[in-house]
This record gives sequence, structure tokens and C-alpha cells, in this order.
Amino acid sequence: MVDTLPVSFGYENIKRVIIPENELKARIAEVGKCISLEYSEKPLLLIAILKGSFIFLADLCREITVPCEVEFMRSSSYVGNSTVSTGNPKDIFGIDKDISKYHVLLVEDIVDTGKTLVRVTEQLKKLNPLSLKVCTLLDKPERREVDFSPDFALFIVPDVFVVGYGLDFDEKYRNLPYIAEVSL
Ligand code: IMP
Ligand code: MG
Repeated sequence: MVDTLPVSFGYENIKRVIIPENELKARIAEVGKCISLEYSEKPLLLIAILKGSFIFLADLCREITVPCEVEFMRSSSYVGNSTVSTGNPKDIFGIDKDISKYHVLLVEDIVDTGKTLVRVTEQLKKLNPLSLKVCTLLDKPERREVDFSPDFALFIVPDVFVVGYGLDFDEKYRNLPYIAEVSL
């Protein structure tokens, strides 16, 4: 284990490291290769769902060895320091290109109930992409409330609230270089 837990002020809630930095890096490199093979000769558009996927997207796209373009959108159903979805989602598409010319790969931080991705994929399908797949860093299948399976899921995590590597609790901890469990 290369990661040591920070003990400085503000990190008291970090309980344990679930996925250390070196494991994240190795798995992302592996999946980057698969994506490169699958999308060679295809116009690839990565659409990252902010904010949680920003670090994953940055590392994943650098492991993709075929040409690709990047767009961002926002989707949020959490309010403040809640760890339970409000069920009242807001999606803000910042995509100003015609996605019907692209094979779209949605990049997400974590699939929990699955509601976000069901909703977002339904909306994106209406824009007629050449194909649409989902790549998530983390998957919490135990929490699923709707029928949804990501095409690429890099790590399965238990039913605990996780932070780091882009994921937040009350907007904090996104900068941790590993995935950790927080005690709430
Ligand atoms: P879903 O719609 O329930 O699948 O929720 C997906 C979104 O909830 C993710 O994109 C995250 O932003 C957030 N989320 C779910 N579980 C966690 C967690 O354990 N830590 C941080 N964010 C989470
Ligand atoms: Mg998210």
C-alpha cells in the first residue's frame, strides 16, 4: 500500500483507502487500451459528466491512443452535504456540436442507483449519436434501483460513501489522489 492517510486538518473523516493511486492508474491504462481498439477508425467523442469525472476523464483520455474529442455536461441530484439523491435532477448540457457524427462514450465517476445514467443516456439518444456507450470509474451494483449496466466499469465498490479522485462529499475531497471511504 503506497498511500498513507493524511492526518492534517480537514481530513479527519477519511476512514480508509479503498483504491490506491497505483491501482487506479494501472486499470485506467488497461481500459484505455480496450477503448482505443474498439474506437480505432471511428470518430470518438468523450462526454464527461461533471464535476465528479473530471480527474478520471483527464487520465483516461491520455491512455486513449486514437483521435478523440471531449465535451462536458453537468448533472446533479445532490444538495449540499446530503449523501442521498434528491430525486430532482438537473442536467445542463454544454455540448454545442452535432453528436450525430460521433460514436459517443459517456464518462462518469460512479453508478449508484443508476437513475442519472438512465436519464442522461435517454436524452443523448434523442440526439442520434452513431453509437452510445458508458464508461464509469466506479460501480456500486448493490445500490441499483433501475435497470442499468455500464459498458465499461473499472472497479466495483461496496455500498459505502466514497470520495477522492474527483468524487466529493459536500464538495470536498475531490483532490485526493485515491478513492477512500468517508465516515459520515
Ligand atoms: P445515481 O443517479 O444514483 O446513479 O447517482 C450518480 C451520482 O451520484 C454520481 O455521479 C455521483 O455524483 C453521486 N454519487 C453516488 N454515490 C456516490 C459516492 O459514494 N460518493 C460520491 N458521489 C456519489
Ligand atoms: Mg457524477
